Amino acid sequence: MTVRTLFLKKNTLKILDQWLLPSKIYYITCRTYKDVYQCIKDMAVRGAPAIGVAAGYGMYLASVEKKFKNVSELKKYLQIAGKYLVSARPTAVNLFWAVERMKRIVRSPESGVRSLRKNLLQEANKIYYEDISINKKIGENGAKLIKKNSTVLTHCNAGALATAGWGTALGVIRTAYKKGKIKLVYVDETRPYLQGARLTSWELQQEKIPCVLITDNMAGYFISQKKVDAVIVGADRIAANGDTANKIGTYTLAVLCKYNKIPFYVAAPSSTFDLMITDGKKIKIEYRNSDEVIFINGKRIAPVGVKALHPAFDITPNNLITAVITEKGILHPPYIKNLKKSLSYNEQILFL
Ligand code: MRU
Repeated sequence: MTVRTLFLKKNTLKILDQWLLPSKIYYITCRTYKDVYQCIKDMAVRGAPAIGVAAGYGMYLASVEKKFKNVSELKKYLQIAGKYLVSARPTAVNLFWAVERMKRIVRSPESGVRSLRKNLLQEANKIYYEDISINKKIGENGAKLIKKNSTVLTHCNAGALATAGWGTALGVIRTAYKKGKIKLVYVDETRPYLQGARLTSWELQQEKIPCVLITDNMAGYFISQKKVDAVIVGADRIAANGDTANKIGTYTLAVLCKYNKIPFYVAAPSSTFDLMITDGKKIKIEYRNSDEVIFINGKRIAPVGVKALHPAFDITPNNLITAVITEKGILHPPYIKNLKKSLSYNEQILFL
């Protein structure tokens, strides 16, 4: 895909406004960390890895958005910026992980403002480029699980737009398609933000990957009709036991897969694991404004005064997940044991 989710330009962060897709390609210019915070909160940029990458650059912007008398003043400002950025959205752990990586740079002994800025820029760029290469590895690993001539179903958008590039679940689909393994992709529209309808089908169309858009409540019908060989989704946070938080509606799909005996795969970078969290019950679920359910494109679709609820994510228990695909390989149950084995000592420390 040629359209970039975000990029740095002359000390500003350009963020593709995903609310306007697919009809308009427009980049919001962020000059301060608060601008980045707003883009994450309002979901102009969304998807766990992408908001992590954005927050990394948000920390860098904080270091250049004003003058600092000395390095300790800069470090204090960065602490405030970090705290603010992580409050934008609560569920995707990549946001916390990326800010923590930037804070490690802040904590390192550094004598000057200029060199700290340079190191922050280096780290933010590293998070960005690493994300793309990690996604390509996830794609390669995941494609091994896809049988020739498969029809797969995906939920939400775990594509290039949800990451620095390539995508996680959609990265697997892209790679598998290039290997001639994908016949068709069913795309859940993903109410209420419509990530599937607006973003995933757009990405697939650009790549000329055959896809068909369905409403979320049609998935059960097509799965029961044996039209789907596997379901692949992304993740916002994976607990140490493999319980996975992802876009609302994911759990329903996992139950459908179990009942209909088809594989249910989660594709995510290892930065999406949160080993501090033992199981899914402890993952904080973001509740968003109920107006996002009541209105579509600014048009009210429910009666005035009706109450609505909008949990943005749900938890899929590990026993419904056939495998978790990461850049390090394919993890099978028991996740708690296999997950720890797959991470290096340094990576484990980073999560703790
Ligand atoms: O609310 P969103 O659009 O940020 O939710 C996105 C998802 O749930 C994705 O599936 C997840 O972040 C993985 S993206 C590679």
